[in-house]
Amino acid sequence: MGTGKTDRDEWIVKCPKCGRIRESCRHVSREDVRRIVRLLDAGVEVYQADEERESSEPHLHEPVRPVAQLVTPRYTMDDLVLAESTKEGLLDALAELRHKGLMYRRWGLKKVVKKTKGLSLLFAGPPGTGKTMAAEAIASELGRPMHVVNYAQLENMWVGETEKNIEQVFRAAFEAGAVLFFDEADAVFQRRGVMATPWMNRDVNVLLSQMENYAGVVILATNLARVMDRALDRRIDIAVEFPLPDAPLRRKIFERLVPSEAPLAKIDFDALAAKYQLSGGSILNVVRQAMRSSLRRGKRHRITMEDFTRAAERELKKSALLSTDHLQEAPRRERIGGYA
Ligand SMILES: Nc1ncnc2c1ncn2[C@@H]1O[C@H](COP(=O)(O)OP(=O)(O)O)[C@@H](O)[C@H]1O
Ligand SMILES: [Mg+2]
Repeated sequence: MGTGKTDRDEWIVKCPKCGRIRESCRHVSREDVRRIVRLLDAGVEVYQADEERESSEPHLHEPVRPVAQLVTPRYTMDDLVLAESTKEGLLDALAELRHKGLMYRRWGLKKVVKKTKGLSLLFAGPPGTGKTMAAEAIASELGRPMHVVNYAQLENMWVGETEKNIEQVFRAAFEAGAVLFFDEADAVFQRRGVMATPWMNRDVNVLLSQMENYAGVVILATNLARVMDRALDRRIDIAVEFPLPDAPLRRKIFERLVPSEAPLAKIDFDALAAKYQLSGGSILNVVRQAMRSSLRRGKRHRITMEDFTRAAERELKKSALLSTDHLQEAPRRERIGGYA
């Protein structure tokens, strides 16, 4: 490694994000500079600063910007209202994570797999069914922080940067002992398809191999399990399905999400749960909307059944508006079951 002070830069990069800088920045590394010509379209300007310098000198390692968001888990397993099969999957995961030492050492699993494996989970189901919440609950049951990543944050227009971000994300999560949570993981994995460019495929490969070698806990959440890369199948240890709640579960979710302090008129939650096929996330919206419409009449008024009914009708229309076909389809049990 050269000493930073005497090093002279080979290039000066003008980054459209942070202006004119020397050497490299959070957005553009030196390796990228070699490829930058291809990226001129994006508005990058590159100046050759010192033609005499050798390019083989290794450059100082810039700290890579954090691309994961640190989340202190707020939810516990008790906050979740889940179908039996969903709960089973989560409890299996927790059993292994709590007794990993026992499984791998005393029960000899380490001899069979040759290393202490991490645990990878896939949470698949429509939006608002509690996937994010469940990831938080797992982290809080283990007393770990959670690192949340989504592909939009990982993806970088500069070739090579995404790959570095992925590696950085795994390293940082491992060092922090955090549960690593990839939200909207389908966005990453469906890249390896028609529209993918060669380097995008490479990013997916990097992600898969990181997962394979990761010794910590990684959770992928997706609304679209079936568009996920097939190569993912064997990297997933436990697949957990998050179906839309049925009427009895919806009833329980209403109970959970309507605070006992809320001034309610007589509300027939059984009827609401039976009539409106809503996800947990939508039920939360309904509760908030019912409060709002009651407040519009004044603070002293109770929240009425009518407030809830109207809010539910509205929420149903909203989800019809927002959802596309693939989100409406019933989750494919056989396929998902095959992961585990
Ligand atoms: N199974 C559930 N049990 C209790 N509350 C839920 C459940 N699913 C969703 N919710 C409510 O909806 C909100 C959004 O859920 P979230 O976990 O973000 O869904 P997803 O990640 O599957 O889209 C939660 O914060 C919670 O208030
Ligand atoms: Mg979520």
